[in-house]
Amino acid sequence: MSVRFDPVTRRLSLDPRDPAFYHDPYAAYAAVLSHTPVAYWEELGCWCFFGFEEVNRLLRDRRFGREILHVATREELGWPAPLPHTRHFDEVDAHSLLEREPPVHTRLRALVSRAFVSRRVEALRPIIEELANDLVDAFPKEPFDLITRYATPIPVRIIARMLGVPYEMAPQLLAWSHDMVAMYGVGRTYEVETRADQAAAEFAAYIRRLVDERRASPGDDLLSVLIAAEEEGETLSEAELVSTAILLLNAGHEATVHALGNAVHAVLRHGVPMDRIVHDDAAMSRLVEESLRFVPPLHLFKRYVLADTDESGIALAKGEQIALVLGATGRDTRIHDAPDALLPERAQPLHTSFGAGIHFCVGAPLARLELQCALRVLFRRCPELILTGTPHPKDSWHFHGLDALFVKA
Ligand code: HEM
Repeated sequence: MSVRFDPVTRRLSLDPRDPAFYHDPYAAYAAVLSHTPVAYWEELGCWCFFGFEEVNRLLRDRRFGREILHVATREELGWPAPLPHTRHFDEVDAHSLLEREPPVHTRLRALVSRAFVSRRVEALRPIIEELANDLVDAFPKEPFDLITRYATPIPVRIIARMLGVPYEMAPQLLAWSHDMVAMYGVGRTYEVETRADQAAAEFAAYIRRLVDERRASPGDDLLSVLIAAEEEGETLSEAELVSTAILLLNAGHEATVHALGNAVHAVLRHGVPMDRIVHDDAAMSRLVEESLRFVPPLHLFKRYVLADTDESGIALAKGEQIALVLGATGRDTRIHDAPDALLPERAQPLHTSFGAGIHFCVGAPLARLELQCALRVLFRRCPELILTGTPHPKDSWHFHGLDALFVKA
């Protein structure tokens, strides 16, 4: 892997598609952070912030936003016309809470947040534990892939259940979601775009059919709650309802699968003694935070500059993008001692793995509960769990995880 950095111009050259980088990006982050918390990354074509203080602050800074078209036109930004072959994807994206700024974001977020209050999330604990135990019961005697048999089904089935999507749809949800999130990777191709568009069209059509069914016979699921909000005139349009359901179904598993896979891998590779931790809720919660700091699943999010401004001595123009490297912040030596060690007893494992500010992950309480339950059940039931073979890292950087993690129980 070649990392070149010029301390005078703060220009960084590093190919994000180089497997040596995305298999283990932390050495490159450390190399950058040893010089500077902010650099112009040539291959990404934008200023990137790596330091904990900077990322944590800028995520909350209203000079930057996920949306720009509310304060600028496409012509002003020099953007080309929307692509016809991504219109279904763009339609879903355009109404997604993640892609909006206030006041639309505030309204959508308030509706969704109700579903994730701690009381509702906590009620899922026995369901997650039962599911985790059922999955362990089905582990084979020979080595198997933990991502397929454990890390994937837990978050997928739980979020499907929350939304009231039948369990048999899980494989289809995964396929649609994978095709859609590929749009956020580096080096997007025409093929990636057309697949994502088709997935978005099919997913939206499916959700519309489900909405019609739930309108006729409402349940106690989140989709029925959102439909009621729409019908009671709480200003949720049908397009927003569809986008919100798709966002929750996708975001509800993509990152958690990898957070869980990464955590199990880190625990096994670093030989963390789990016998005491699995019987101590506070210790388990600390281990989960430490693993989110140490091996976070999402490494990069971007923001638009909403008006000309100056930040860290850099002149930023309205409409340009900056990148916040969430994956680097937990390794910042300015706030952590021994950041490259996985220390389950670390008093304050600070990280930005769930973001910060108005877009802070709405599913964080659910993700934390899933991680705690899944790790507890796994290591209680399989105290002899060992790695067999070398894990297969995913062919991506933004979504940092493993395609497969072979273990023996
Ligand atoms: C370990 C697992 C997870 C991680 C690391 C994670 C991380 C994140 C991050 C970093 C953001 C902010 C993105 C930004 O600022 O641009 C975010 C937003 C979001 N996440 Fe998560 N997430 C996880 C699990 C979940 C789950 C389980 C759900 C849903 C059930 C969920 C739903 C969402 C939603 C809806 C947003 C958008 C919030 C907004 O824009 O206001 N996430 N997540």
